[in-house]
Formats: sequence, structure tokens, C-alpha cells
Amino acid sequence: MRVMVAGGAGYIGSVFVPLLLEQGYQVDVVDLLWFGNHLPPNVKVIKKDLFDCTADELAKYDSIVFLAGLSNDPMAEFRPSMNFIHNAALPSYLAYTAKKAGVRRFVYASSCSVYGYTVDKLYDEDCPVTCGYPYGISKLQGERGVLQMADEKFSTIALRQGTISGHSPRMRFDLIVNTMFRNAVCEGTITINNPAIWRPILDVRETSLAFLRAVQADPSVSGVFNVASENLTVGQIGGIVAKEVERLTGDKVEIVTKNVQDFRNYKVSCDRARSVLGFAPKFTIADIVRNLHRHIEEYDDFADDAFFNIKVFHNQLAGTLKAAA
Ligand SMILES: NC(=O)c1ccc[n+]([C@@H]2O[C@H](COP(=O)([O-])OP(=O)(O)OC[C@H]3O[C@@H](n4cnc5c(N)ncnc54)[C@H](O)[C@@H]3O)[C@@H](O)[C@H]2O)c1
Repeated sequence: MRVMVAGGAGYIGSVFVPLLLEQGYQVDVVDLLWFGNHLPPNVKVIKKDLFDCTADELAKYDSIVFLAGLSNDPMAEFRPSMNFIHNAALPSYLAYTAKKAGVRRFVYASSCSVYGYTVDKLYDEDCPVTCGYPYGISKLQGERGVLQMADEKFSTIALRQGTISGHSPRMRFDLIVNTMFRNAVCEGTITINNPAIWRPILDVRETSLAFLRAVQADPSVSGVFNVASENLTVGQIGGIVAKEVERLTGDKVEIVTKNVQDFRNYKVSCDRARSVLGFAPKFTIADIVRNLHRHIEEYDDFADDAFFNIKVFHNQLAGTLKAAA
């Protein structure tokens, strides 16, 4: 079975692609390599804008997994127009072209960000989505563009992921648990902007497993699935990370609490992913921290711009604009 992973050289793809290979899939990655290439050398990586993929090129794949686009709020807010192009138009274009080419399944990396600011309710996939910020709106548009193409010959699945954290060969320290881990280790402090805000969390190894389950699902399966392992408040997450880092390093970690307003607050039900996809994640926040700590020697300079999407994006865009001037 042949799978194309669009945006597969990113943070999630760098864990997911090796998992697909381990499972015996033939995999091609198409990626602009904004963050370099940290995939194993045996992976075929095509450096290319996904907008340039034609139906002829896609016809050889059984499934396409879409992990591309702008992957957080700061990037989306830095260039909102580019955000809507890459997060809303691009998945729609690629799914449309894939369907035309006869590809059987398209899996889209959506986000629980689409739920916006909710109050005291566990949100499932049938609940209303009311976000008002560029990243969330564009992820929802991308999801809708892809999903409405489903029919008996073309399965479309959107995984609404919680905040992903944990170690990847293409590392990010701009994701909640990873940021707290970095700050606890480097500065002995975790700053919590708003302890009452809810976030669903998922280890990057387990979101990769969710994408694998989506690729393997019965051809009749299409639709939206929330994927997360646990819903916790930011205050709870900070407490667990601090305790685990103290246990692993023997150093005291101080928690600094602020009261900054947040526009994202949600906890989600993952019952549908459990019953339809057989997805049952097990890793806790403490497991994520322990795995980050196991890889600590690989991070070398924790302040490297490469670990922060917005810094890379800012530097690359500035370079592009300069070159064009
Ligand atoms: N990381 C999270 O916490 C999280 C949570 C929810 C949803 N998501 C979604 O999951 C997906 C993957 O996230 P990630 O953290 O791995 O992102 P990432 O930023 O690490 O990787 C994205 C990759 O897509 C590539 N890309 C972007 N636009 C492209 C284009 N037009 N053509 C070719 N390649 C292109 C980039 O070069 C990069 O390698 C994203 O769609 C993101 O919105 C991520």
C-alpha cells in the first residue's frame, strides 16, 4: 500500500513516517522543508509545493495524509492571508486533485482549535464550532473542504488533534508541554498564563498512531474524530511537568502564575475515535516529560530558533521578501 504524506517532514511527520515504514507501507513525503529534513535517509522526500502536485502524480497513491500548512496561532496571525491559502485552500485543492486521480482515502490533520472558547462542557464532534481567530477558522475551512468530497469511492477523515507534545526528531519547543519542559530545565521556572484554561493533550507518538488507524480504517469510514489522551487545565499540566522535572533532575522548579486572557478553552470527548478507529491512547503528561528527558542531549542549544515555528517562519519570510525586492 502506497501512502503520500503531505508536509511529512514536520514535527508530527518525523514520527509518523517512520511508523508507517515500520508497518510495511511504501511512503513518499512531499514537503517544502521549511524546517529541514530530519527523516531517516531511506525515506523518499520530494521538495515541492503541494499546490504543484497534479492528478497524474497523485494517481499512484492509495492514501494521502495531509500534515502541511501553518501549524500554530502565531504563524497564522503573522501572515493571515498566507494562513488561509495553506490551511484552507491547500487541503481542499489536494483532496480535490486526489479524488480526481482515483486515490481512495484522504486524511486531514485538523485541530481541536476549531472549538474556540467553550464553557464547562465536554465537546464531541457534533457540538457547534465557533472560533474567531485565523488558525482555527482556516483549520475548520480546510476540514470542511476535504470532508464534503467523501463518497463511496473516496474516504475523507479529519483528525481534530489536541495539543501535541513530546519528542520528535524535528523538534518544537513551542507546544505546551514541550515549552514547560524546556523552561523548567533551562530556567527552573514554568510560567502559567492562565491556570483555569482547558487543553486536550496528546503525545506525538500517539497522534501518529491515530493517523495510522485512520489510514487502516475500513474504506466505508469517513468523518471527523477528536483525538487526545486527556483533558487537563493549564495549571494542572504545569504542576505535573514541574513535579516530573524535579524528580528527574533533582532541581527545584518554580511555578509563576499569571492571569492572561485566552481565546481557546476546550475539553473534548474522544469516544468516537475509540469506538470507530479503535484509538485508545495511554501516555500521560508524565510519560511525555520522561520521554523528552530521555532525549535531552539531542536538544543541545534549547534557544535555537529552529525549535520555534514562528522564528523560522519569520526568518524565512523575511529572506524571501528580501530576495524578491
Ligand atoms: N503540532 C500540534 O500540536 C498540532 C495540533 C493540531 C493540529 N496540528 C496540525 O497537524 C499538522 C502537522 O503539524 P506539525 O506540528 O507537524 O507541523 P510542522 O509545522 O512541524 O510541519 C508542517 C510541514 O508542512 C510543510 N508545508 C507547509 N506548507 C506546505 C506546502 N504548501 N507544500 C509542501 N509542504 C508544506 C512544512 O515545510 C513543514 O515541514 C498541521 O496541519 C497542523 O495544523 C498540529
